[in-house]
This record gives sequence, C-alpha cells and structure tokens, in this order.
Amino acid sequence: MIENKNILLCVTGGIAVYKAVALVSKLSQAGATVKVVMTDSAKEFVQPLSFQVMSKNDVYFDTFDEKDSRVIAHIDLADWADLVVVAPATANVIGKLANGIADDMVTTILLATEADVWIAPAMNVHMYSHPAVVRNIERLYLDGYRFIEPSEGFLACGYVGKGRLEEPERITELVCQYFNEMNDQPLKGKKVVITAGPTRERIDPVRYISNFSSGKMGYAMAAAAQKLGAETVLISGPVELPIPTGVQIIRVESAAEMYDAMLSQYDDANIVVKSAAVADYRPKSVHAQKMKKKEGDDVLELERTTDILKSLGKRKEQQLLIGFAAETMDVIAYGEKKLESKNLDYIIVNDVTDPSGGFGSDTNVVTLLSREGEAIPFSAMPKEQLATCLFETILQQESSKLHDR
Ligand code: PMT
Repeated sequence: MIENKNILLCVTGGIAVYKAVALVSKLSQAGATVKVVMTDSAKEFVQPLSFQVMSKNDVYFDTFDEKDSRVIAHIDLADWADLVVVAPATANVIGKLANGIADDMVTTILLATEADVWIAPAMNVHMYSHPAVVRNIERLYLDGYRFIEPSEGFLACGYVGKGRLEEPERITELVCQYFNEMNDQPLKGKKVVITAGPTRERIDPVRYISNFSSGKMGYAMAAAAQKLGAETVLISGPVELPIPTGVQIIRVESAAEMYDAMLSQYDDANIVVKSAAVADYRPKSVHAQKMKKKEGDDVLELERTTDILKSLGKRKEQQLLIGFAAETMDVIAYGEKKLESKNLDYIIVNDVTDPSGGFGSDTNVVTLLSREGEAIPFSAMPKEQLATCLFETILQQESSKLHDR
C-alpha cells in the first residue's frame, strides 16, 4: 500500500521506544522503506541494532557522524523522507520543536525537512496535561504539524490515563490512509487560493469594525483543496485556527490588505474561493489616537471597501471563481444576483440565521449555485466534510474543462 514511500522514524526517549520497533516492522511490511533516527535517551531504552535489523537500514543518532562524505546526513535524511513520524514523542522533543531548538540529530532533521511531520506523543498523564506541554502542542498545531493522539490506559509509570503511544498497527493504518489520500489528488498541479475569516477595519488604535466569521469554513476549504493535491494558498483574516498541513498562509487584517494579497496570487491561480466575510464598509478616516468619549451620541462616517470578488470577476481569465454569500433572507435569489453581478462560476449560499450553520458553528448547510442555473443543496454537515463535498461536486461538473484552466 505504501510501496516506494520513504518514512523517517524519529525515536525519542521513553519506555514506549519498544513499540517503535514494532512500528518499523509494520511500516516495512506495508511496503515502506523506513530509516530510523534516535535521540541519546531513546538509545537508553532500546539498542539501535534492533532498529537496524527491523529496518534493514543504518540507524542515525549522531549529527557529526557522517557515514557518507558526499552528503550531510541530517539534510540528506530530511530531503529523503516522504513523511516523518516522531514516535514516541516525548514532552522534551515537543518542547524543543515548538521553540525551534535543534540540538541533536532528531531536532535538526525536524527543522530541515519539508515533508509532513506527524507527532505521536507518549508520556505520563500529568506531563501530557501540563500547561507547558499543552501550549507547545497548540503551537505545533498552528505551525501545521499533525498529531497522533496518545490513547488511554495503564501507563508504565503506574498511572492510568492518556499518554500511551498509539498502537503501531493504528499508526501504520493512518500512514497508509495518508498516502492513499495523496494518490487520489485531482487538483495536483493546480493552484487554489482561498480567503477565510473576517476582516477588521480600524477606527482608532483600540477599536475596529468586524463580523462574526471564525474562519472555520475557509480553513476547511483550504484543508480540502490541499488534500485533493492543490498548491493551496490561504489568505486569512485575524483568526486563531491551526493552519492545515502544507497550506501556505498569508495573514491580513483589513479588506484592503486582503485585496492586495489576493492580487499578488491571482494571475497564476486556477481556482479562487472567497469564503472570507469581508467588511463592506470601513471608517472614512482612521484616528491616530484613541477617540475620546463625548457627551451624547456620535456618528462614524463610513466608506465602501473594494469589492474584492467583483474586481476579480472583472479580470477573470483562466480562473474558476467561486464566491460565498452570507444571507439572512431570500437566500437563493440574493445568491443568484451576486453570482451574476460578480461574474462568478459558482456561489455557495448559506443562511446565516440557520442554527445548523453560518458564523462560528462547526457545521454548515449550503446551496451551491452554478452559472448554468443549477442549484445543489447540501444538508447540515461538519464544515470539513462539506468542503470536500463542495470541491468534489464542482470538480465533477468541471471535469472536462479544468485541465484547460
Ligand atoms: O468563518 P465561519 O465562522 O466558518 O463562517 C462561514 C461564513 C458564514 C463566513 C461563510 O460560509 C460565508 O458565507 N462567507 C461569505 C461571507 C460574506 O461576506 O458574504 P457576502 O454575501 O457579504 O459577500 C459575497 C462574496 O463577496 C463573498 O465571497 C465575499 O468574500 C465577497 N466580498 C464581499 C465584500 C467585499 N468587500 N469583498 C468581497 O470579496
């Protein structure tokens, strides 16, 4: 299933190292070529020879022990890997990676590789829930690392709880699934640009106008595009969500910044999805100092922001242009109007008053409208699942035309 795939297994020091030996065996049986890098602490638990025998490859642990003078080992291994798995991952290696520390062979490779990195933590239950570890894991999620959560059960330290390294069979299953998904990639070679989240339009240094967009829908669209093989660029308003693995992020604050970022990505884009909730108005002037309260009411003068989508519609060439529409009434009719006036290929309309969808929720319920006049409804489902369904439906409709885009 994973033949010809190169998996670099980074083994760090905990009692679960013995399970990593079984993991090498399972991954090799599934067809992968496995190479192992160990930390010094990992070697205290299991001899490198066990990994060498199981992987039928040299085992690496010393950054300065260059086995082949033609290459620099840690860079060579970092480039060689199709996937890097850190199992077991100790609190220590998680902390180092979260802070960019590279003081041994494992951490140096982790910073040098461009392959996806999966981290399978294993540690004492209290260590796993320690605020510092929780913080480091959150940081790494935001940086795009993927985690294989530990399971619950008896721990070697005597405690019962969450902290056991996931079973080698399950990790192997996940790795196979990952490579299967990578093979099934209709968007390979295509560039998809997606916007997400709200914009903020500053009033003064402490206040702004914004909306309730959490970014969940747009981030889900980006994750789906990436899974389908696209080179994915996500232009994100201010939200705190983990960046989907492999997705290039451009962070913006205002509608004007989003417009500039979009123009910088537009010319060679194949598909553009505008899920962001962009402010239609911004304060006419931004106060340099905090505005002081006055007696009585005040009036804030607003001016229109650029309609980014409309201007993209005007300069559309090969791009497949997909908008979203957040409506509170006459959803389809308003959606159709926007599809037409902004020169879009598709628009995804959602009634943001529906409790099963819209702003902030984990699910959404939408209708996909096409320029050919089709209306395809999607019932309420998690935004991640919906994003994949939307892309698959659009790709089906566009299958004959997409390779010309
Ligand atoms: O982020 P979540 O919490 O997950 O919520 C998801 C969502 C409700 C934000 C999303 O599903 C959605 O509907 N996004 C579009 C919101 C919106 O701004 O709709 P609109 O009808 O006001 O705008 C229509 C389209 O024009 C949108 O694609 C929008 O990005 C674009 N637009 C709007 C104004 C503007 N100045 N420039 C634009 O490009």
